[in-house]
Amino acid sequence: MTTMPASHSRHFIDALDLPPAKYADLFSLAHRIKDDPAAFSSACSGKLMATLFYEPSTRTRLSFEAAMLRLGGRVITVADPATSSVAKGESLADTIRTVGGYADLIVIRHPKEGAAKLAALYSPVPLINGGDGAREHPTQTLTDLFTIVTYKGRLDGLIVAFCGDLRYGRTVHSLIKALARYPGTRFILISPEELRLPDHVKGEVLDLREDVELHETTRMEEGLKQADVLYMTRIQKERFFNEEDYLRLRDAYVLTPGKLRAAKGDLIVMHPLPRVTEISPEVDEDERAVYFQQARLGMFARMALITSLLGVA
Ligand code: NCD
Repeated sequence: MTTMPASHSRHFIDALDLPPAKYADLFSLAHRIKDDPAAFSSACSGKLMATLFYEPSTRTRLSFEAAMLRLGGRVITVADPATSSVAKGESLADTIRTVGGYADLIVIRHPKEGAAKLAALYSPVPLINGGDGAREHPTQTLTDLFTIVTYKGRLDGLIVAFCGDLRYGRTVHSLIKALARYPGTRFILISPEELRLPDHVKGEVLDLREDVELHETTRMEEGLKQADVLYMTRIQKERFFNEEDYLRLRDAYVLTPGKLRAAKGDLIVMHPLPRVTEISPEVDEDERAVYFQQARLGMFARMALITSLLGVA
């Protein structure tokens, strides 16, 4: 495992910052870590990671922190902006310059699109985007690709159905671009009219692969039959301007065991979590539901990323 080449940013802000070959390196490292965690238990000893989370999070922050602790490193954290100097009006740039003087690595989640990119400009240490508004969530993509590789054995030639809030869902925006780089991937985009994948994301996907198949539909059943991967998403309540629209759209798609009957036997059902109403709890018993395993795999993928960015693997 080599460290990030200088030509690539030492930060990880967008899913496309890493070429497919680098993702492949990280997956093989993540597999090695998962198979023999003890061998990596002091890989990051003496290193300190700061997590700055200005938006709610369970999995992203805790999986990063668990990852660093399992690598023998240590963690400092701001999980509630109300308790930090942001509440006093400090700029993001000043916060990052300061925290970069304490820690060897920063993970930031912020409600504003582009905040991570801005933070990286001021960061003296590697900085990872843990989600910036509705824009990108590249380490969820790392998690998602690692999950697909683990269960399907490949990333090319797959039919991937995304379902739910494709407009505001940042995990979708990052993942669809990353997947578009693998040959033969086809996409089925299932959403209400109002929550369709934004044109600028579609444009980026088409720039990556002109002949990519993007089939849009409002009918969940249509995508379910053909998909190799079904990627369910939560309607992003916090990005809506009014409660009424949210409530109207919240239950647009609910995956149930009955609906799954029409799907392929080797489908995998993914979800970045948290789930609200879009997957009924009975689906959890179906062996095709891999979302909790996906969350666990994300910790190993993040362990691989941390060691790589710190140049210790
Ligand atoms: C996602 C996020 O924050 O964008 N969650 C996560 O990081 N696992 C998805 C979501 O909140 O719906």
